[in-house]
Amino acid sequence: MGKALDGVRILDFTHVQSGPTCTQLLAWFGADVIKIERAGTGDVTREQLRDIPEADSLYFTMLNHNKRSVTIDTKHPEGKKVLETLIKQCDVLVENFAPGALDRMGFTWEHINELNPRMIVASVKGFGPGPYEQCKVYENVAQCVGGAASTTGFDDGPPVVTGAQIGDSGTGLHLALGIVTALYQRTQTGRGQKVLAAMQDGVLNLCRVKLRDQQRLERNGVMKEYPQYPNGTFPEAVPRAGNASGGGQPGWILKCQGWEHDPNAYIYFITQAPVWDRICRVIGREEWIDDPNYATAAARLPHLQDIFAGIEQWTMTKTKFEAMEILNKYDIPCGPILSMKEIAEDESLRRTGTIVEVDHPVRGRYLTVGNPIKLSDSPTDVTRSPLLGEHTDEVMAEFGFSRDQIGELRAVGAI
Ligand code: COA
Repeated sequence: MGKALDGVRILDFTHVQSGPTCTQLLAWFGADVIKIERAGTGDVTREQLRDIPEADSLYFTMLNHNKRSVTIDTKHPEGKKVLETLIKQCDVLVENFAPGALDRMGFTWEHINELNPRMIVASVKGFGPGPYEQCKVYENVAQCVGGAASTTGFDDGPPVVTGAQIGDSGTGLHLALGIVTALYQRTQTGRGQKVLAAMQDGVLNLCRVKLRDQQRLERNGVMKEYPQYPNGTFPEAVPRAGNASGGGQPGWILKCQGWEHDPNAYIYFITQAPVWDRICRVIGREEWIDDPNYATAAARLPHLQDIFAGIEQWTMTKTKFEAMEILNKYDIPCGPILSMKEIAEDESLRRTGTIVEVDHPVRGRYLTVGNPIKLSDSPTDVTRSPLLGEHTDEVMAEFGFSRDQIGELRAVGAI
């Protein structure tokens, strides 16, 4: 079966996490992703957080599947010429260098557009245009400037960053959508364009509900589903809401059997209004069904802490999986807190290709996260990440370089 992006050729100038996430997705959808790296070192993550000496790190392998690797010194005059040849024959150039690096190499938008007016030039940057646009940015910086850190954690503690890589992988996802959208527009206009995904913007987009809450807070001075209500105080800006749900159906994380020694023996429990009577019956609090303090969603808001304490008395008598099984029978939304160990061993995630085992010539077998987006007509086959420069000769030949030319370019250090 063919793939959705068959025939799309991508020059992948990405490194670290944000850009590579984007091009990995496009490769999984069938694009030919040619990763351009510096000979000798390559993407810095090849050797960061290594668990096996001399083997590309999991950091690198898990972000660069299904790509080809070509080494070009794009600051070498001959290397620049090679890159010009590639630009003329590719569809998309993706990069997440520090601001201005591509220009300093001599590859401004104007120059690229002149070489290939159909080329889409897609960039991840820390910030969009403005006072900080020249700044280098990493994941946690993005979480802090995008509104995630100030709204994550507990009220009595400092701001907290989340383990979900919303700044890097989140922005990579945004960029991938921008690229396929630009490819679609090109089918009508015949022209390429610039695509920019700023990490601050991406994180803020994912924190949209908190900007909603800022305006609710300014209007009413209180947000009744927040744990600060009714006894705490609300500051000027959206406070940290602990494990509150963030939506219209109150939820919280509750202890389950074994919580004393297992840090993940917890369940997320949602007191969804339509199943309130079932919740009361399951936990043995039938008296709450008709009690005016508990009977309606609005009446329950000032009592959420008591309600969750009552429900926790029940969840503490069950393991998180037992609680999940019982609650699901009654359509009560909940979710066990799964550890990475439990996820890695989850058979159903392996069956769907969300967790995949990959073989690598240097490191051997390892687990990775496969394509989270499933297309029925474009199935994903996850293949290993490339070794540094593994495909230089193959790709150069495909782009019209003779064996002698490749030898000469290598001799002068351009590839
Ligand atoms: N040949 C020759 N030079 C190359 C090259 C190649 N194949 N590939 C990269 N380089 C050069 C670049 O031209 C740049 O040189 P310059 O600074 O002299 O212009 C240099 O390598 C390093 O690039 P840079 O992006 O500045 O790397 P860094 O390690 O200093 O910074 C980041 C890393 C992530 C902070 C920075 O790239 C950044 O802010 N990127 C945008 C935001 C982002 O994506 N952040 C999240 C990353 S997960």
